Amino acid sequence: MTADEMTRVLADGNTLPLLGLGVWQVPDGRGCVDAVLWALEAGYRHIDTAQAYRNEASVGKALKESGLARDEVFVTTKFFPRGDDPVRAAEESLRKLGLDQVDLYLVHWPQGGPTWAWPGMERAAELGYARSIGVSNFDEAELASVAEIATRMPVANQVDFSPFSFRRALHDTCEKMNIALEAYSPLGTGRHLTDATVAAIATEAGRTPAQVLLRWAVQRGIPVIPKSVNRERIRQNAQIFDFELPAEAMARLDALDLTGGTGSAREGKWW
Ligand SMILES: NC(=O)c1ccc[n+]([C@@H]2O[C@H](COP(=O)([O-])OP(=O)(O)OC[C@H]3O[C@@H](n4cnc5c(N)ncnc54)[C@H](OP(=O)(O)O)[C@@H]3O)[C@@H](O)[C@H]2O)c1
Repeated sequence: MTADEMTRVLADGNTLPLLGLGVWQVPDGRGCVDAVLWALEAGYRHIDTAQAYRNEASVGKALKESGLARDEVFVTTKFFPRGDDPVRAAEESLRKLGLDQVDLYLVHWPQGGPTWAWPGMERAAELGYARSIGVSNFDEAELASVAEIATRMPVANQVDFSPFSFRRALHDTCEKMNIALEAYSPLGTGRHLTDATVAAIATEAGRTPAQVLLRWAVQRGIPVIPKSVNRERIRQNAQIFDFELPAEAMARLDALDLTGGTGSAREGKWW
């Protein structure tokens, strides 16, 4: 795969690396700093955090310790939608991250309805706090609601997406709206790694189950943000651009979907 094929150009022209490190459930502190540093060493150029994860300070520390130039790493954070002001919350995130700007700022979930936070997200972008803005956990109807009021459209929708959550209708809608669907929990928070079909395809491909699940997404041009705090697994999860899954293996993985190809972003509300 060429460098271009390892990225997705967003509707606003910014470039999102297809592989990122997710840091949900990684406690703030040295463990988080190390995980991000190991990912950067392994070639990741995209880190996915959130205000709700309470580890933005560690992500910022790792970025600084890495010595990489700011424009070499794509940093996403997410607005915690129980707060009332995406602009003030962005200022707080930037302070913790030690950055002037994030690359992508997402509404973490549509609590209180899909539209109320959007004008504040647009304002955060206007103020230069975020190069790109988007949403997360938004279904087709919620995306349509945002589109009705937006002066600047979301460029990404981060959702639970894997062979087991193959939300085809939502993916198709996102593509039509030129919104990049980003796959979160691409390993099912670890649950999908022991599936027999995934394991069989991994054996055939001479790869690990994690690599198969991640490859399934990036082979479609879908960004993935696997989480790991283990140095070896972080490296392993990055080795997904040097092989291809045959069409019949892709089809067997597609058939694992449990959502019926839904246009919904989630099975229920957690708020
Ligand atoms: N927007 C949202 O609402 C939302 C929701 C959920 C997740 N996310 C994002 O998506 C990211 C990833 O999702 P996730 O945290 O649910 O989990 P995931 O990436 O699907 O799976 C992570 C789990 O798999 C293990 N693992 C990782 N690589 C492995 C490998 N190669 N071999 C064996 N085990 C491996 C990890 O353990 P070790 O750490 O011990 O390796 C961890 O238990 C999050 O961190 C977050 O950034 C966003």
